[in-house]
Amino acid sequence: MYVGQGVDRIDGKAKITGGAKYAAEFDLPGTAHAVLVQSTISAGKITGFDLVLAEAMPGILAIITTDNAEKLGNLKAAPQKVTYPLLQDSNIKFNGQHIAVVVADTFERATAAAAAVRVNYRATRAVNTMDQAISQSVTPKEFSNGRAKPDSQVGDAAPLLPAGTLRVEQTYTTPIEHHNPMEPHATIANWSGGQLTVWTATQGISGAQKALSSLFGLEPKSVTVICPYVGGGFGSKGNTWPPAVLAAMAARRVNRPVKLVVTREQMFTSNGYRPRTVQRVKLAASPDGKLLSVRHDVKTQTSMPEVGEFAEPSALITRMLYEAPSIGTSHRLVQVNHGLPTYMRGPGESSGAFAIESAMDEMAAALKMDPIAFRLKNYAENDPTARLPFASKALRECYAQGATAFGWEKRNPIPRSMRDGHLLVGMGMATSSYPTNRMPASASIRLTADGSALVRSGTQDIGTGTYTTLAQVAADELGLPLRKVRTQLGDSRLPSAPVSGGSMTSASVVPAVQAAAQGMKSQLFALAINHGGPQWRGISPETLALSESAVIGPTDRLSIAQIFARAKIAQLNATAGAHPDSDAQKYSKHAFGAQFAEVRVDPDLGIVRVSRWVGAFDCGRILNAKTARSQLIGGIIYGMGMALFEETRVDPNSGRITNANISDYLVAVNADVPDIETIVVDSVDPISNPLGTKGIGELPMVGAAPAIANAVYHATGIRVRDLPIRIENLL
Ligand code: MOS
Repeated sequence: MYVGQGVDRIDGKAKITGGAKYAAEFDLPGTAHAVLVQSTISAGKITGFDLVLAEAMPGILAIITTDNAEKLGNLKAAPQKVTYPLLQDSNIKFNGQHIAVVVADTFERATAAAAAVRVNYRATRAVNTMDQAISQSVTPKEFSNGRAKPDSQVGDAAPLLPAGTLRVEQTYTTPIEHHNPMEPHATIANWSGGQLTVWTATQGISGAQKALSSLFGLEPKSVTVICPYVGGGFGSKGNTWPPAVLAAMAARRVNRPVKLVVTREQMFTSNGYRPRTVQRVKLAASPDGKLLSVRHDVKTQTSMPEVGEFAEPSALITRMLYEAPSIGTSHRLVQVNHGLPTYMRGPGESSGAFAIESAMDEMAAALKMDPIAFRLKNYAENDPTARLPFASKALRECYAQGATAFGWEKRNPIPRSMRDGHLLVGMGMATSSYPTNRMPASASIRLTADGSALVRSGTQDIGTGTYTTLAQVAADELGLPLRKVRTQLGDSRLPSAPVSGGSMTSASVVPAVQAAAQGMKSQLFALAINHGGPQWRGISPETLALSESAVIGPTDRLSIAQIFARAKIAQLNATAGAHPDSDAQKYSKHAFGAQFAEVRVDPDLGIVRVSRWVGAFDCGRILNAKTARSQLIGGIIYGMGMALFEETRVDPNSGRITNANISDYLVAVNADVPDIETIVVDSVDPISNPLGTKGIGELPMVGAAPAIANAVYHATGIRVRDLPIRIENLL
């Protein structure tokens, strides 16, 4: 069995030797280069362009502006969110909005001319930050892709609470954060005979195909999207954003291939962000630690309605995390002159967990109860809001195994009581959870006479290991050595598969590969029975097996090569689809985890260092122990960034982002990260999908930030409710 083993990535060598080609690295003869021009005001109207200087510069092929851009199909009809500023009108809704594209024969010439484009504006009054309009909130129109309502209430919304009830009522905030994947967004677009081909960095080639075909008025099959490798997305590459569309528009205009690479600075205004959240949490508990009521009210930032709407669903996690007789949540939006927010790793859950898991720690402290004991006392055996059983839940095991590995029993519960020399030591924990998602997907397998298989699916490997895990599954199903199995993906001409978002690629695509393998098996068995000779005739296929590149019968074996030779065929093909089981709707499907952080805080300097980490996770069956661990530690590190470093700053006067680069926007780097111990508790989800996986991409980020904030409180006695935790909070 290859499934479960920590086999090396089959694409690992290509990735570290430069053999793996990313979107910007494809070489088409005659490629021109496009550079974006962006608005320098946050609200108003363009009154005119002065292109005299730019047009006179050498090598300029076209300057496409809001005055002369081609009209696109109905933006709202695009089946995937494509945001507003596609040069379709001259209104400005945020600073950094794309207003022109300069195309030239070289990147340098396009860059120089883009800087020479002069723009006249009539500025109007803007709402540049959420806090400028926090009192004017609206209810989300579209929430959580229609899967949930913005508000929820279980039990009495205002229960009568007995005397002696303990209360925690606090506001927690998380800032705007940007994904900052290593690979920037990039697209090469090429038109040929009315057909569009794009090489683009995306988490969803099928969504990009739908969006581009609808915008340019084409049949989906007239658009080919190619994306063999993605250098990180974290949600920023889930939608099809304007630069990909503008690259295609530019290529049509200049009638040659066009490459558009978004600069690092433009990455802050071109492809979404996690919106700021202001979260009010109210907990009430009896003196013995039973939660009596839970309220979580979220205000979060969105863009102006013309640009689009996105709601960070931060309170979804509160609906299912703990049992209480009264659980209420709400989400409201504050419209700001800023670009469209989007999914960012653990969208909703990671920001929401900071609020609810900080509040739970505050309540445990008020109760003088151990934080784990308090959580166990309110453990949800069933989903308390959906009122459904969990498809599987091994959170108790996560708490227990995590606590043991971490040495939680050594924690002196009194804040500021543990020291290492002059450093304050703090130990904190938090719960993690993320939904188990799945969507329809399809895959095909081709088997050739030499016993090698090619697995194909129109999914993509966003760095999580899809190339490898699909090959492992096919090798096991077909009884082939792993080295004989190749995977091809990242091409929209392949059998379609969903976006690689919501931690659902394995849960969706693996069942399709299994189904295709089943189809392949049946064909091989039929051929063996028909062509194997007298001792195979009349054998029931159920008695046959595939192993070591051969069909194994009761008395005999036939290698794949022998079967192909006798049947006089060169290859066999099988294609299959797989879709979620409707019975799964009767369950609440989630992965879980327990995060344990140890910090050391310098009491004089306020510097926080994470010194130890244990994360224990219930994430279902593991396909590849090595790539799974990589995802787990990657998520935890992302959470360290959320807790201690990451924040996008906006100038309240201009709406301009003041730290739009990766030297001023800080992320956790190697020196910030200690050894991380990850534990995967024994759990296979029997409901969510046939393989029993639960998804790993987002889960390990959730709960990481509050574990650190809780550890900082334990170290210092200071409760920081606004992320990121700064030096000045602790002095
Ligand atoms: Mo994930 S934020 O759905 O890529």
